[in-house]
Amino acid sequence: MATSRRTFIKNAAQLSALSLLPISSYSNKAIDGKTLEINLKSARVDDESFWNMLRHQFPLDSHRTYFNNGTMGPSPYPVIEAVYQKMMAVDSTGDYGSSEESRKNLAQFVHANEDEICLTHNVTEGINIICWGLNLSKDDEILITNHEHVGGALPWLSRAKIQGMKVNYFELGHNAEETLANLNKKITKKTKVIAVPHVVCTIGQVQPIKEIVALAKQFNIEVFVDGAHGAGMLNLNLHELGCDYYASCCHKWMCGPKGTGFVYIKKEALDRIQPYFVGAGSDSGWNVVDLPQPSIKGYVSNAHRYDYGTQNAALWSGVNVAIAFLDGITMPVIEARVKFLASKLQNDLLNLKHSNIEMLTSTEEKSRAGIIAFRLKNMDYTKFQGEAGIANFRIRVVPENGVNCIRISTHIYNSIEEVTRFVRFVEEMAAK
Ligand SMILES: Cc1ncc(COP(=O)(O)O)c(C=O)c1O
Repeated sequence: MATSRRTFIKNAAQLSALSLLPISSYSNKAIDGKTLEINLKSARVDDESFWNMLRHQFPLDSHRTYFNNGTMGPSPYPVIEAVYQKMMAVDSTGDYGSSEESRKNLAQFVHANEDEICLTHNVTEGINIICWGLNLSKDDEILITNHEHVGGALPWLSRAKIQGMKVNYFELGHNAEETLANLNKKITKKTKVIAVPHVVCTIGQVQPIKEIVALAKQFNIEVFVDGAHGAGMLNLNLHELGCDYYASCCHKWMCGPKGTGFVYIKKEALDRIQPYFVGAGSDSGWNVVDLPQPSIKGYVSNAHRYDYGTQNAALWSGVNVAIAFLDGITMPVIEARVKFLASKLQNDLLNLKHSNIEMLTSTEEKSRAGIIAFRLKNMDYTKFQGEAGIANFRIRVVPENGVNCIRISTHIYNSIEEVTRFVRFVEEMAAK
């Protein structure tokens, strides 16, 4: 423990000068004895020397291949350093610090307005804010998919259990068109909300959100998107996407501090979501002692009405650096790299033409991004996970909704070499 603390401080000291610089000036800096010659903004998706150098910005164990960004996104050194520095500042002065800079940065990052961003601790909190805040009555119906994460399903199921509304699901198709047709069939006169993941956590399918919104609007239905795998994986433009609400986090694909997230609430929809948990920052005035009686005047005119009280300024400072880090590479390049590696994995597995490998992720270009899922017919998915662990691959298996599969996420710190080695490993397992 003492050694790792010393190592961290040594690394932090080496990196402190670096992390104070804007991300675009990261080129040719010495990190831990290695020289980084990163020319950010000129990265090509298949330039392995660039991506290998970028990998050195992450404290990832070099003996292990980390393919589980879909669960948790490791942070690069500058983010870790920013959190450490801000904690030192807060704890040496006793000053709170602020999280408002993050609201602004997040808004720019996802192409929304600052007024539309509520800060949360994770995706699930954002889902709960929308789910419980919507004005729904007992006879209303909510449509979700058959590929929800527990956090995407439970708030709706729980509200329905308590208040009597009905939750129905529609099945994902093999491609966007099929999914839309399945959804269309399930819409009834009572449907008030369609709540879908942007990228499903089970098989990585990217949902046709714009088309879902267009369909929903014909029937005056609200659209909520569980964007756990959107921010940091896809080049998001929430205004263009058109949904009413979008919940995401900074601790997966954004590689930010754990326990940070946000929910987007379209400006026009702010008054449709009742804030239930409120406190400092939520109100436009209140009193306890003045006549006629204690009261709250109202809520602030922006999404700050849903977040309140003391925030962890150190974590939000890390979020700011995570955004600068990603923006330094640029989101279109990141999306392309993530997809390039995932496509290579999918194509290489398909090209094995092995009868024991069952590909679950759609091969349709617009329906796939950075998560690939498959099954082995000759091996239980949990056994595969054990074998993969022994071979130093950190993967995720998916028991949710009976999907029972193997899930691989590829991010900017992964390499072609890691994908190739993993494909060889799958081939070995498929032959057992
Ligand atoms: C699709 C989806 N929704 C929601 C969540 C919950 O995220 P959080 O743990 O940040 O609340 C996850 C987490 O993996 C997820 O994949």
